[in-house]
Amino acid sequence: MEPDRTDEIVNKVLWKIPNVLCLIGSRDGDRWNAMTASWVTQAAMEPVLVAVGVDKKALTHDLISNGGAFTVNLWSREDTRTFVKFSKPAVKEGMSLNGRPIRTGATGAPIFEEAVAYLDCRLWKAVDCGTHSLMLGEVVDCGFQSDPEAGVARMEDTRMKYGGVRRGGH
Ligand SMILES: Cc1cc2nc3c(=O)[nH]c(=O)nc-3n(C[C@H](O)[C@H](O)[C@H](O)COP(=O)(O)O)c2cc1C
Repeated sequence: MEPDRTDEIVNKVLWKIPNVLCLIGSRDGDRWNAMTASWVTQAAMEPVLVAVGVDKKALTHDLISNGGAFTVNLWSREDTRTFVKFSKPAVKEGMSLNGRPIRTGATGAPIFEEAVAYLDCRLWKAVDCGTHSLMLGEVVDCGFQSDPEAGVARMEDTRMKYGGVRRGGH
């Protein structure tokens, strides 16, 4: 029997995998950014590593590669509109990105003051994966900034999708 591997089925199966939705902060010198991301997971216990799949064409890829760090900002489930704004390079004004206040983390990367919780990661290794790089970061600092019991945003809270097979323009 032929396998069912049409692009449509690959997409549908991959979109079944539950994902967080968060903001990845990055910085190289005076260039700062944050982007909406869903390909985020823990990757090891010792060292404590967090992996993020980052599109090679994204500004974030450049900033993490050169800046050597990134932050994972977990966000309120009640405020998923924010993710639409951070799906293109962010505008920095003072210590804010797209109007959202930030501070400088221990690694130098931006942490959002409004994030429910954050992970501040030093780049441990970048693995070339074709369209994307898997950015593995060692957790240097992390914490909660509001109720630790609060739920954090997930893909299923929105009508957004990311991933599956490559489409034109990707
Ligand atoms: C719901 C959603 C999830 C996304 N997840 C990722 C992701 O995990 N990795 C990635 O590289 N881009 C992801 N993107 C796309 C980036 O947010 C988008 O390409 C952004 O423009 C790239 O960021 P930058 O150029 O500002 O760095 C996602 C976009 C959306 C809308």
